[in-house]
Amino acid sequence: MHAYVLKRYGGPESARMMEVPAPVPGPRDLLVEVRAVGLNPVDFKFRQGKLRAILRPRLPLVLGNELAGNVVAVGSQVGRFRVGDPVFARVAKERAGAFAEQACVDQDHAAYMPRTLDFTDAAAVPLAGLTALQTLRDLLGVKPGQKLFISGGAGGVGTFAIQIAKWLGAHVTTTASKRGEALVRSLGCDEVIDYTVQDLSSVESRFDAGLDLIGGKVLEQMFDIMKPGTMVVSVAGVPEPQTAIRDLGGRKVLSAVLWLISYGIRARARRRGVGYRYFFMHPSGRNLSLLAELIEQGKLKVVVDRTYPFAKIAEALDYVESGHAKGKVVVTIR
Ligand SMILES: NC(=O)c1ccc[n+]([C@@H]2O[C@H](COP(=O)([O-])OP(=O)(O)OC[C@H]3O[C@@H](n4cnc5c(N)ncnc54)[C@H](OP(=O)(O)O)[C@@H]3O)[C@@H](O)[C@H]2O)c1
Repeated sequence: MHAYVLKRYGGPESARMMEVPAPVPGPRDLLVEVRAVGLNPVDFKFRQGKLRAILRPRLPLVLGNELAGNVVAVGSQVGRFRVGDPVFARVAKERAGAFAEQACVDQDHAAYMPRTLDFTDAAAVPLAGLTALQTLRDLLGVKPGQKLFISGGAGGVGTFAIQIAKWLGAHVTTTASKRGEALVRSLGCDEVIDYTVQDLSSVESRFDAGLDLIGGKVLEQMFDIMKPGTMVVSVAGVPEPQTAIRDLGGRKVLSAVLWLISYGIRARARRRGVGYRYFFMHPSGRNLSLLAELIEQGKLKVVVDRTYPFAKIAEALDYVESGHAKGKVVVTIR
């Protein structure tokens, strides 16, 4: 089968389309004929080797973290899915393998595709949709009437986060440029700050919860616009000790390293009386089923910015790496 394979960490030239053997499903796996895959910043960050301290799968590796397609075989212990079922999934982080004509998915990571979506839109949901759901509902515990600030609302995660926050009942403010403003408003965002003309330090509102999708200086400034006693969760900033303990399987040595690396950002948060967590999303078929329900009920729209054929996957990744996608980028496999 054709697959997009990473041979060594590096730039775009370090990954290429190759002919490889089809994967063999384990007892708990679904073998999926992949129809479309979603692209995410993690794909190029992983290719660059930026996640080496955290994820160390053996190379060469078929890249790709989320997919939609039809089940073509099931392992001996699979009960919930059958051959022919249309499914979507965020595959296991250390396994990847979605950028291929066939891929294996643990049954607990897969869900039935929303009946209202085609494969292209379904492939855009898992990674960004789960990230938004897990940060807002599980970490921030967003409640009706709360004032939520999201940095970077116009991208893949942001377009889901705005809608999920509205579903949870929050009043949502986000940052976007002129290019993204109409989009974030169409998704229900209450207030938009144009980050290209207004610095966060001049924002007068104070917020009950913060979700950071940008990192760096934006994250640092977010602590200044939060009410004391509140919490900022970032998926784009500096990982901290709890990331290693809670999201990466209790890795104590890594936790100590992250304690050092994150000292500055945690101190900054503490000075403002604000809690700080860096979160790694996790695959979950159960959470994905909830997103599928919201989509079928018309409460969650999927925003796909561009689609590319499989042969142009390198071009698609370049576009994601440009950092200007509005919603998601999808590659169709068949
Ligand atoms: N830890 C995890 O589990 C996890 C999971 C998912 C994602 N992430 C991370 O979260 C981040 C966001 O992911 P994504 O998929 O949403 O990225 P994305 O789709 O590539 O985001 C692109 C969007 O960000 C906007 N943007 C760029 N700089 C901005 C700024 N300074 N202020 C406001 N908006 C800005 C761009 O708008 P303009 O073009 O108008 O500038 C564009 O619409 C990435 O770093 C990703 O790696 C982490």
